[in-house]
Amino acid sequence: MLIEFDQAVVSTPQAEVLRGVSATLAERRIGIVGPNGAGKSTLARLINGLVMPSSGSVRVDGLDTRRDLKAVRGRVGFVFQNPENQIVFPIVREDLAFGLKRLAPDRQQREARIESGLGSLGVGHLADRSSHTLSGGERQLVALAAVLVMEPALIVFDEPTTQLDLRNRNRVREAIAGLAHDAIVVSHDLELLDDFDRVLVVRDGIIAADDTPAAALRWYREHCA
Ligand SMILES: Nc1ncnc2c1ncn2[C@@H]1O[C@H](COP(=O)(O)OP(=O)(O)OP(=O)(O)O)[C@@H](O)[C@H]1O
Ligand SMILES: [Mg+2]
Repeated sequence: MLIEFDQAVVSTPQAEVLRGVSATLAERRIGIVGPNGAGKSTLARLINGLVMPSSGSVRVDGLDTRRDLKAVRGRVGFVFQNPENQIVFPIVREDLAFGLKRLAPDRQQREARIESGLGSLGVGHLADRSSHTLSGGERQLVALAAVLVMEPALIVFDEPTTQLDLRNRNRVREAIAGLAHDAIVVSHDLELLDDFDRVLVVRDGIIAADDTPAAALRWYREHCA
């Protein structure tokens, strides 16, 4: 999957959140790090058109997020920083089933995908639970499973492990490593990005460093700690 940012600016009435980002991303595993408020989530959201550039452009496999939003959304799954924004149905199973209706019209097939998606993250036992009774970590894992089962060509994860204990962090790390497709992961959990292909450091609304994980994380520790 090819992501092209061309002088992408995101402004709000108060400030420029992103000040002109240009980059071409094609690696299978890309990490994004940076200080709080630097613009990481905004950059991530540009990729599936949750945020539109105020000027410049963002293209996904040649599709402009402005002109071809629907096609872009079909290719790019997004796991939110705050899973409350993501789980909308009252029962866990229904939440996963909703997205799958068109992809897997056969009910049995759909159920099998739901079981395996939840199972791969160790939360198969939550399928029939009421969504609002989930713990923070459980919610994060269910939100992740709901995107995994859709098998999009690219998944953008915005801080997927913030509420997770060690064991579940490892499960998410394995789930990302095992993805057949591409992943872009925003994270303050730097270990998660160790074996990635490339890491971007976002600072003050620009990509301030762009390198191998070891070099980019060294830069981040030196300049942003
Ligand atoms: N719609 C908006 N209106 C006003 N300000 C915004 C808007 N969206 C983002 N911002 C501001 O832009 C800056 C960057 O936000 P963003 O969420 O991208 O940061 P981040 O790097 O993901 O930070 P964190 O690590 O805390 O999640 C923040 O100062 C935020 O308050
Ligand atoms: Mg963020």
